[in-house]
Parts: sequence; structure tokens; C-alpha cells
Amino acid sequence: MIIGTGVDIIEVARVKAAVGKWGSSFLKKVFTEKEIKYSNKKRFVYQHLAARFATKEAVLKAFGGGWSRTLPWKDVEVINNKDGKPEIKLHREAKKLYDRKGIEKIIVSMSHTKEHAVANAILVKE
Ligand SMILES: CC(C)(COP(=O)(O)OP(=O)(O)OC[C@H]1O[C@@H](n2cnc3c(N)ncnc32)[C@H](O)[C@@H]1OP(=O)(O)O)[C@@H](O)C(=O)NCCC(=O)NCCS
Repeated sequence: MIIGTGVDIIEVARVKAAVGKWGSSFLKKVFTEKEIKYSNKKRFVYQHLAARFATKEAVLKAFGGGWSRTLPWKDVEVINNKDGKPEIKLHREAKKLYDRKGIEKIIVSMSHTKEHAVANAILVKE
């Protein structure tokens, strides 16, 4: 049973500008080491970072709120499996929320172009 969905779109230039303005403090606040490493290996680094940003927002939107502080970006980590398919690994507050809501699976998908990155997330409870 689907118990929540979330979608998000972001301009790649916004993420690039944030990195330009705040540098590694922005990167380290929003992205995990694995996400940064994955994106840095790609030709269009900011598209991959923006897609991860959109995915985190889509997952948090699907949860529908419930976290106590500012959005816990790093609590939602995107990891690509061996086929390149993005999967979600939750940490800390987001993991607690996931357990509390009895969610059993999160399905995400993302896409990115030069200008935009888009992502959607689906929460499943069997
Ligand atoms: C998945 C695929 C359709 C992506 O389409 P695209 O138009 O090139 O690129 P998009 O911007 O729309 O999407 C890219 C995102 O798709 C996702 N993606 C990649 N491989 C995927 C897969 N196997 N399943 C689901 N999603 C996948 C990733 O999240 C990727 O972004 P990321 O690298 O930042 O994580 C394309 O890469 C493809 O056809 N992959 C098939 C790979 C495959 O089957 N290989 C095995 C034998 S050939």
C-alpha cells in the first residue's frame, strides 16, 4: 500500500550558486560523503548534486513533516546500486520517523537536465 508520495524539482544553477557562495560548508551540511564522491566523479557534477537535493526533498515531503529541526538533509542519503538505480538509506531522525510510521520501503526516481533536476519518492507499507 502506498502511504505517501513526494515530488520535487530544482534548478541546477541554484545548487551551483550555493556551492559557489558557501563552498564545502554547504556541501557538508546537505550531502553525505558518498553523495559528494559519487557526484564529483561525474561530468556534470551539479546535475547530480541537484538531483540528490531534489530526492531528499521529495522523501521528506512524502513523510509529510514530523522532524523537529531544520530539514535533516543528511538523514536522507541517496546511494546508487550496481545498476545505477538510486536507493535511499536513512539515518538518525529520518530513520526514527520511518520506523514510527511503519514504512517498509521507499522507492525513488530522479532525472536531470542542464537546467533542472526532478525527483519523486513513494512510501510503501505492506
Ligand atoms: C536509467 C536511464 C534510463 C537514465 O536515463 P537518462 O535519460 O540517461 O538520465 P536521467 O537524467 O533521466 O536519469 C539519470 C538518473 O537515473 C537513475 N538511474 C540510473 N540507472 C538506473 C536504473 N538502472 N534504474 C533506475 N534508475 C536509474 C539515476 O538516479 C540517475 O541519476 P544519478 O546518476 O544522478 O543517480 C539510463 O541510464 C538507462 O537506460 N539505464 C539502463 C542501464 C542498464 O540497464 N544497464 C545495463 C545493461 S545495458
